[in-house]
Amino acid sequence: MTPQHQSRIARDIAGLAPIIPVLVVEEAAHARPLAEALVAGGLPALEVTLRTPAALEAIAAMAAVPGGVVGAGTLLTREDVRAAKEAGAQFGVSPGATDALIEACAAEGLPLLPGAATASEAMRLLELGYDMLKFFPAEAAGGVPYLKSLAGPLPQIAFCPTGGVSTRNAPDYLALPNVICAGGSWVAPADRVAAGDWAAVEALAREAAALR
Ligand code: 3PG
Repeated sequence: MTPQHQSRIARDIAGLAPIIPVLVVEEAAHARPLAEALVAGGLPALEVTLRTPAALEAIAAMAAVPGGVVGAGTLLTREDVRAAKEAGAQFGVSPGATDALIEACAAEGLPLLPGAATASEAMRLLELGYDMLKFFPAEAAGGVPYLKSLAGPLPQIAFCPTGGVSTRNAPDYLALPNVICAGGSWVAPADRVAAGDWAAVEALAREAAALR
């Protein structure tokens, strides 16, 4: 799958809602009700981070939730790409981008949302054919003013800022011409997920879905 094709799919997914929840799933049994609550709240695109032993099982469970589009986050290696795809992930996300990861996503046919934090990183990915990127770590790398500055010289690149995004600053990111959506973990707080408080998660999702 070419980078151009991957980015077209990534743009479509990014356009589904203003926020992509970044999920750390500790228990596979939480995956389905968590995804159902987020989708019901208006956030269909979900990123499950491959940071917990339950992540791949969680992706498989979430992939079966009607209306959900599940991706795997923090892809670092070819093995990550293969395992994510096998579990049912429809897209992948990475904090940066390496040649090996890019080759793996092309070979495995997994659309990648690759990360960039500087103009040169974004330009390199654009040269390869990626024009939909994750801006990471958004707040630490310069936040709204930095991303706004990139819109001038690089208007053809759209971003999903992630890392330090919250209800407080999300509207400012979403108002930028080069931002399609933002990513964030606040819609699925660890304590609400551990408590199985899906009504609270759905309410947070509803609030996030209305941010733009
Ligand atoms: C992450 O790395 O976990 C994501 O970038 C989410 O960051 P956040 O917790 O600041 O939303």
